[in-house]
Amino acid sequence: MSAILFLMFLLRCTSTVLSTKDDETALLKINKQLGYPDILQSWVKGFDFCNAGNALFQSNWYIRCSSTGRVIDLYLQNTNINAPFPDSICDLTELEFIGFYHSPRLYGSIPSCITQLYNLHQIVIIGTSFSGSVPSFYNHPNLTIINLSFNQLSGTIPSSFSTLPNLVQLDLSFNYLTGTIPPQLVHTSHTSYPQLVLASNSLTGELPRCYGWIDFGLIDLGNNQLSGDASFLFGKQKKAFAKIILANNEFEFDLSYVEFSDNLYGFDLSHNKIYGKVPDSFMTATGLLDPNLSFNKLCGELPKGNNMGRFSAAVFANNTCLCGYPLPPCSASAPAPSP
Ligand SMILES: *[C@@H]1O[C@H](CO)[C@@H](O)[C@H](O)[C@H]1NC(C)=O
Ligand SMILES: *[C@@H]1O[C@H](CO)[C@@H](O)[C@H](O)[C@H]1NC(C)=O
Ligand SMILES: *[C@@H]1O[C@H](CO)[C@@H](O)[C@H](O)[C@H]1NC(C)=O
Ligand SMILES: *[C@@H]1O[C@H](CO)[C@@H](O)[C@H](O)[C@H]1NC(C)=O
Repeated sequence: MSAILFLMFLLRCTSTVLSTKDDETALLKINKQLGYPDILQSWVKGFDFCNAGNALFQSNWYIRCSSTGRVIDLYLQNTNINAPFPDSICDLTELEFIGFYHSPRLYGSIPSCITQLYNLHQIVIIGTSFSGSVPSFYNHPNLTIINLSFNQLSGTIPSSFSTLPNLVQLDLSFNYLTGTIPPQLVHTSHTSYPQLVLASNSLTGELPRCYGWIDFGLIDLGNNQLSGDASFLFGKQKKAFAKIILANNEFEFDLSYVEFSDNLYGFDLSHNKIYGKVPDSFMTATGLLDPNLSFNKLCGELPKGNNMGRFSAAVFANNTCLCGYPLPPCSASAPAPSP
């Protein structure tokens, strides 16, 4: 009888309970650094952190442990916690996933010690007031997703991200980032098309041409002050079911020779300085659902047929001198050529 109990105890120990006092100590310190918020009331010495039955959708926090009893996932969401980043997180040395969501009163900088967590697969920190610079992750073999959108981060985008061989999704949108976009921030992967989202910052300069080699699933650079060419993001040969957003920048290139892939389903080039005419591949691209070319410097007659019946005039509005269906006919809108 007691042998069976002992066996059950052992099984429970090996499958669920924290295997090191260090992880427990770190979690207790995190609680302290967060100011012992009500939602972490249960986080006391001896608490069964690994097996607390929390599901993220019904709680403000969630911890997942590995089969060896180390903390590998740590989530915190929808909290009102008013505290700086708890740097004791860096003592959870096996962490693979950090997720902080919608906790607008978390403030201060993200400590650079998290860049020493070499098992990290994903870091997702969204909707906080964390400020200061973006942590410079360098040479992490397993890091695939960095999503630090909707915070108050400033400074430049670390060029060290180019050393992350498996980074396929980088989202730094809705921060206060400045400077240029470093080359090779994301890499082509065998399992998914890369996503690069840097929208709504204050980025300047030209987009490095190496991004033309990547088959993006999503690239969103909207609402910055980027300039120069970006036509290399397009191309007939692209295979990704893709969306390209460059709206509200100062991109300036000739659209006449751009070829739209049949897999491109959406793009927004509105509010730039794009010139030339709308190319025939716009009319033939079979996957195109949601284009926007408005507020540019395009000119000339729109191609006729195929796609052209599907789009409203708003897609082409407010250009220099575009004409033809769905805009007014060329003869009516173009000034009469001088004799
Ligand atoms: C991280 O990547 C290395 C090298 O690819 C691999 O050996 C290791 O198992 C990975 N660690 C985790 C926690 O996935
Ligand atoms: C980053 O997270 C936000 C908020 O959850 C989400 O809307 C966005 O799609 C994510 N970024 C990427 C590239 O998936
Ligand atoms: C295109 O972009 C302009 C400017 O951002 C916007 O006003 C318009 O509604 C958009 N049109 C379509 C069809 O998406
Ligand atoms: C955009 O074009 C529409 C239709 O031609 C025009 O009424 C409107 O004034 C233009 N808007 C701007 C901001 O130029």
